[in-house]
Amino acid sequence: MNNSGEPETIVGEAEYLMIRLADEIVGGILEHAAAGRTYVLGLATGSTPLPLYAELVRRHRNEGLSFQNVVTFNLDEYEHLKPDDPMSYHAFMRKELFDHVDIKLELTFIPPAFYEDELSAAQAYERTITQYGGIDLQIVGIGSNGHIGFNEPGSEQTTRTRRVELTEATRRAAAKGFGGLENVPTHAMTMGVETIMEARRIILLATGAHKAAIVQKAMSGNISSTVPATFLQDHSSAAWYLDTSAAGR
Ligand code: PGA
Repeated sequence: MNNSGEPETIVGEAEYLMIRLADEIVGGILEHAAAGRTYVLGLATGSTPLPLYAELVRRHRNEGLSFQNVVTFNLDEYEHLKPDDPMSYHAFMRKELFDHVDIKLELTFIPPAFYEDELSAAQAYERTITQYGGIDLQIVGIGSNGHIGFNEPGSEQTTRTRRVELTEATRRAAAKGFGGLENVPTHAMTMGVETIMEARRIILLATGAHKAAIVQKAMSGNISSTVPATFLQDHSSAAWYLDTSAAGR
């Protein structure tokens, strides 16, 4: 909620939303660069943010936008996919953004897909976020079941980065890309709800009519782990960027 008690909602055509969101991100990058500080950006994968990444790449190429002071933390990663596996989120981020801008790759963090000890791996990710001073702006998508990151229904407000089991609904949504449900990983490592909520600003991005029902639930339903995105209602600086289809309800 913002000061007026209403959730901050930006509705428009997808192209307008992406430009507006890119403006906000670029504003943050430039402001921090001018102050000699790093800007810590939380990133999401999936199809929704693709046009945003394309716009950021365009601004780097055509407008000289630099990512030299940018540190990134991704929300999640599938278990046991190698970084060069095209379905991994490591590969996704390189293909859609990192390989096309001047970001320092060693400052791009993604939860690990491989670990000996899941607890220490999760804690190490959290520690790295803390080391860089926390997340300035976190972008999140929303699953049709209300997940944020891979915080599936049932994920409580107090959850931190951890290994999770993916729901059937989430695995089905990913099945096409993996060439069949049987190829979709069963587990992932995700930032927790509380980890996400600690970001100083959160932007939930949703596009398409298939997201309208869950967006309505997330924005105005009872706050509960049944729909983890409802927790964003409690954030002091969360904004909902919706295209006209996703805002349809
Ligand atoms: P999508 O995924 O952007 O591919 O719809 C969003 C999500 O599941 O969080």
